[in-house]
Amino acid sequence: MAYLEDDQKIRQIQSQLDIVELISESVQLSRKGNNYWGLCPFHGEKTASFSVSRDKQMFYCFGCHIGGNIFTFLMKRDGLEFREALEILAAKAGVDISRPRDRGRIDQQKAIISINNAAAQFYHQKLLSAQGDDARSYLSKRGITQQTIETYRLGYAEDNWQELTNYLLGRGFNAEAIKSSGLVKRSDNQSRFYDLFRHRIIFPIMLYNQDVIGFGGRSLGDAMPKYLNTPETELFSKRKNLYGLAQAREAIRQNNNAFLVEGYMDCIKLQQTGIMNVVASLGTALTEEQARLLHRYTEKVTILYDGDEAGQNATLRAAIVLREAQVKVEIISLPPGQDPDDLIESSGKKEFWHYIENNVCSDIEFKLNRLILATPVLELDDKIRIINALKEDIDNLGSIVERDTYIKMLARKLKVEENLIYQEYRQVHRHKFSGRYRNNNGINRDNIKYGKYGLQEKILAAMLKSPDLYDKIKSRIGIKFFADDVYQNFIREYERMDGTPEEKLHRMMTAHPNDSDASAYARIAMLMGEENEDLYIEVEEFIMRVEKKKAEREWQRIYEQVETLADQGNFQSIIRFVINIDKTAHFAREGDAL
Ligand code: UTP
Ligand code: MN
Repeated sequence: MAYLEDDQKIRQIQSQLDIVELISESVQLSRKGNNYWGLCPFHGEKTASFSVSRDKQMFYCFGCHIGGNIFTFLMKRDGLEFREALEILAAKAGVDISRPRDRGRIDQQKAIISINNAAAQFYHQKLLSAQGDDARSYLSKRGITQQTIETYRLGYAEDNWQELTNYLLGRGFNAEAIKSSGLVKRSDNQSRFYDLFRHRIIFPIMLYNQDVIGFGGRSLGDAMPKYLNTPETELFSKRKNLYGLAQAREAIRQNNNAFLVEGYMDCIKLQQTGIMNVVASLGTALTEEQARLLHRYTEKVTILYDGDEAGQNATLRAAIVLREAQVKVEIISLPPGQDPDDLIESSGKKEFWHYIENNVCSDIEFKLNRLILATPVLELDDKIRIINALKEDIDNLGSIVERDTYIKMLARKLKVEENLIYQEYRQVHRHKFSGRYRNNNGINRDNIKYGKYGLQEKILAAMLKSPDLYDKIKSRIGIKFFADDVYQNFIREYERMDGTPEEKLHRMMTAHPNDSDASAYARIAMLMGEENEDLYIEVEEFIMRVEKKKAEREWQRIYEQVETLADQGNFQSIIRFVINIDKTAHFAREGDAL
């Protein structure tokens, strides 16, 4: 949630910027009625279902149900954290949001970025120059094209200790800042600086806006280590970044899928074969941060790690990390001993594609295959062990059809009766009925059908639009009837706030909750903008239905009490009770969930 001190700044930024203008930078909008419409940038579509409201300063897509305010839009469009989007929009609006104690750090990061950008340019020029002859022929031997060199801004660091240091000092960069970029080190006796990368191919690692935050450098010969990377700095952390994201993010979003590979080379070679939506995890185990970063762009990831034992184990771990970040996973296992780059080189583009298309499996199937492969002879014990090892994964699946498919697959691959597996799994199902694997974005996508609003949403919108209606509903059935947590929380928070209905609403809508909340709020905002003559009738019908339900429940309770008393033969009490019914039959003021 917002820091208190940010709250006012956020409002200031919002008052300076217009969502229609912001979105127009990247989406062609045309005006229809009160709203602007265009093709949704977050999913592929041919007819416009993406709407922007200038009054509400919100956007909402009726196709994929993503919505929110200017911050949400930028976060989604550029894959940013809230704080990053805030910084960019603050700069656009000319609002200073830096806290005094952060300023030093921000200035230092900016300085490192300038140095990195200059260094990347320097290395790139070197590669293209006469001094880069060997490096260029190395790259061409590895099948890297000129176009790729440009796209990834590849470079070359000469076999020289001082080249970059001298260049950067000559450009007037501050020596301390140069050192903190990690590109230059100080010798042990502290007397002089020297370059980190020597005689290496340079791979700049970029942010979404092409700013260079770090580098990888591959030795041309046998020099060890094979790859050197920028050390962890204030700015660069291997754990938090993915190589190739700057180049791939648009394609990832359009495909709603990313291929995840291990190495620099794999990433750029895959892109060269036409798979544009590819990023590399840089040889480390995939981290939670990287998984979350991917989730900002896509709901699904296809893991394509090296075919060796280490790669396959890393695949299993990456699949778990991705799942935990609510990302769906598919896996392609490569032949033993090959990485994607090797396979492209040895079999050519066409066969590579063929291989990819024919070897996709789900993470559960992958796990099953690995377990079977690891057991040369499948005894009954082994089969039971494998069935149990997959129990939880299969049980966590959202749909019965999916579960059924896997149980059939298990039966087939393990050569056991399906029924036995069902029996083995049955107990688990009974206990864990509600603990489903849920996708945060998916909830909205699944529940809310195109263009149609649910009754809960309609009522919430009507309540927010009309204070009279709000009071009426509150006094007759209470406000606890929302079954959906998002709306339940919305109304609870709304109740707690002070101010006029307009002020409260504005604050609710412009706060920056998580993705699915923002989308739900945007949907309500859009709904409020719609004219709906039947709304009041629908709401009245709803109130009556709730009241009737409550009355039925109350009478049921009374009958039960009378019956109990009658069973006891306590007629005095029955008479007293009936006389009191008038009082007891007064329904509670607060409603509860239907
Ligand atoms: P690999 O050893 O699989 O290298 O490491 P590769 O990507 O196939 O490289 P080529 O084809 O020999 O050029 C995978 C990734 O692990 C990281 C790098 O990011 C590399 O791309 N790595 C590897 C290092 O950081 N340092 C190393 O010494 C080796
Ligand atoms: Mn390789």
